[in-house]
Amino acid sequence: MSRRKTIRQILEQRFGDVEACADLENPFLAQIAGRGSRRHYQNRSIDVSLLNTLCAVALSAPSKSDLQQRDIILLQDRAQRKKITDLFTPEEWFAKAPALLVVCGNNRRQRQIAETSGKSFANDHLDAFFNATVDAGIVLSNLVNAAEAVGLGCCPISILRNYSEQISDILKLPDYVFPVAGLALGWPLKETEISPRLSLSTTIHVNEFDDHNVIAEISDYDQRRENQQPYTKQRAIERFGQSAKYGWSEDKARQYATPQRTTFGQFIKDKKFILE
Ligand SMILES: Cc1cc2nc3c(=O)[nH]c(=O)nc-3n(C[C@H](O)[C@H](O)[C@H](O)COP(=O)(O)O)c2cc1C
Repeated sequence: MSRRKTIRQILEQRFGDVEACADLENPFLAQIAGRGSRRHYQNRSIDVSLLNTLCAVALSAPSKSDLQQRDIILLQDRAQRKKITDLFTPEEWFAKAPALLVVCGNNRRQRQIAETSGKSFANDHLDAFFNATVDAGIVLSNLVNAAEAVGLGCCPISILRNYSEQISDILKLPDYVFPVAGLALGWPLKETEISPRLSLSTTIHVNEFDDHNVIAEISDYDQRRENQQPYTKQRAIERFGQSAKYGWSEDKARQYATPQRTTFGQFIKDKKFILE
């Protein structure tokens, strides 16, 4: 089990070469390094007070200019939650999750403050959307780590944004408030799997950005991933056929060869954001 390994061993499994990293005895870091998404859960509920605690811990995250432009919607009412899961097929993995929540970006409060204090909001441009999105993303990450720290399994759900408009209506999201991702939580059925990541030399740059070797590095990563955690299913075989070698890069290239969520930009504009 990953938690009994040293941090170096966990990181090695994740990144391959971790020569540049120190080895530390630190359960907190080991927990984060060894984490993994879990999509299958025991049929056991999660106490609401625990969920509230996890949300409170997550909302303790840093926030751009202390603006706190992110909120969490806990889907506690079964009928309300069903309206959301009914947008998907009943086989969708998160339909049976013991707990579901939605992390939202909220740039509305800032405008409410401006209006209440009789000041103009003079920053109506892309930054308003961007800052709220980043704040929400940090809270999502904190939620994941908080949940895993108490033994829960979880997985973010951006597929919710395939139905942004419907979800916005169900959750009664006003202008300047938008869903960033859902999160499914539950007591896990299985151990965490460490999913290998691109190497540190690909993704940590020193002093300046440098990707001159990126294609060769990605090919190495494809191979490392194939050795450790091969893909069990190929995407869009009707269009691309079966590949003898099917690595991360082939999977991601196939995934993004089909348009996805093309209406999201319009949805955000309809929420009155100016994206320039
Ligand atoms: C913002 C965000 C949205 C995600 N949305 C989904 C999703 O809709 N469906 C899903 O199965 N996994 C989703 N995931 C989980 C990723 O697929 C997962 O993190 C990735 O495959 C790496 O695996 P790991 O989390 O086990 O390390 C999402 C993750 C993030 C951070």
